[in-house]
Amino acid sequence: MKLFAVPKMAISLPLAVLAAAILIFINESTFQQSTAAAANIEEAQQTRGAISKLVQEMLDAETGQRGYLLTGDPRYLEPYKIATSDISQNLNVLSRLFTPYKDQLAEFGVLSQHVARKLAEMDLSVRMRKQGNEDAWKFVLTTDVGKEQMDAIREYSTKLAASSISKMELGQVQIKKTLQLSRIGIAVVALAGLLAFYMYLLQAEALLASGQREQETLQRERDLLESQVRERTAALAKLATHLQNVREDERGHLARELHDELGALLTAAKLDVARLKSRLTGSLPEAIERLEHLTKTLNSGIALARRIVEDLRPSSLSHLGLSASLEILAREFEEQSGLSIATDLEPVELGGAAQLTVYRLIQESLTNIGKYAKASQAEISLHDFEGYITVEVKDNGQGFNLNTVGPTSHGLAGMRHRVEAAGGNLTVTSVEGSGSQILAVLPKTL
Ligand SMILES: Nc1ncnc2c1ncn2[C@@H]1O[C@H](COP(=O)(O)OP(=O)(O)OP(=O)(O)O)[C@@H](O)[C@H]1O
Ligand SMILES: [Mg+2]
Repeated sequence: MKLFAVPKMAISLPLAVLAAAILIFINESTFQQSTAAAANIEEAQQTRGAISKLVQEMLDAETGQRGYLLTGDPRYLEPYKIATSDISQNLNVLSRLFTPYKDQLAEFGVLSQHVARKLAEMDLSVRMRKQGNEDAWKFVLTTDVGKEQMDAIREYSTKLAASSISKMELGQVQIKKTLQLSRIGIAVVALAGLLAFYMYLLQAEALLASGQREQETLQRERDLLESQVRERTAALAKLATHLQNVREDERGHLARELHDELGALLTAAKLDVARLKSRLTGSLPEAIERLEHLTKTLNSGIALARRIVEDLRPSSLSHLGLSASLEILAREFEEQSGLSIATDLEPVELGGAAQLTVYRLIQESLTNIGKYAKASQAEISLHDFEGYITVEVKDNGQGFNLNTVGPTSHGLAGMRHRVEAAGGNLTVTSVEGSGSQILAVLPKTL
């Protein structure tokens, strides 16, 4: 899909840029052409106007001349003079306008000659009339020279005006052409723009789809990883539970061996010593003294063995129940540590494994208090509710930051594991300077 998206992405932008460039080019060139055509039209109109003005001025001059000749009234000379001066100006304008066009310049030259001749003829007759040379100016008037010149002027003026009109028409055609070109160009460019936009949309859609697919793939991989982590964690938790059970079983086995074998041996030895001692009564005081010492040593051995056995597997749990065992544990700890331990222990009915969990939890909590808390008081409570029990150990020590507990510390982690393996929940709360609290909620399992 990416392979498909790349060429589109590569085409749509250059296509849009090309369309914009073409649009600018078309716009610019049609503007230039239209401006040139409009300038041509304007020039042709100017030329046409100047030509018709020339004809009109010639007629005005002729009318003034005739009026003066016929009446001798000098007022007629005024329009004649104005017209003749305008004519020379107009000729200058026309000569400037025709200069770039050789063909028309030649025709304009002929026209100028006829105008000059007609002006000369009129000037001559006016001068003669002024001098009172009646016959002469009448002669001039009656000849066809003036009419011929005037006809020639009209003919050439019409020709030049026609060429101006065709020039104007050419300009109009040119403007139409450029407009048509611009129309087609803009339509083509607009289509190209639309095509580029369509491609852009396709590309955006493809990108979106590929992004979604990538997201889905990532999510799938994440889910897979999460489920793998969950599986591994569950397997590790199972293994840890198994190891803990194995450890407890081993400890139980060892406790039984020590109790049954070593305990029996030591007790038998103690009985033998007592028998020997009764036989030696009154004689060999040194031997009796030795036997008494041996009895003491045996008693210490028996007490040590009992302590080790008790530590390995608290027999009090099965003999006295959980609350009593915890009470003993608390009192022993109080003695060893010098701390004051308050207890609030309700009798609870729990299975052996759950009892051991509670016992070990309190044992580890007390060990931690002894090691780190610097507390003066601690409190152990055990409460019975319907379906569950709560166990709580609190101290008034220095507390600790839960986030700084290192990975090599196993006490709290082991507690949590035991409680969770038994289907319960453990909460550790500690505020630095204000002591710590460990609370476990355990379902009642028999
Ligand atoms: N009651 C407490 N008061 C103050 N600090 C405590 C208390 N209980 C635990 N801690 C702190 O929490 C840390 C973690 O305790 P945890 O029992 O998990 O490990 P540990 O006692 O250091 O080592 P382990 O129990 O594995 O021999 C301790 O090192 C100690 O700093
Ligand atoms: Mg510990």
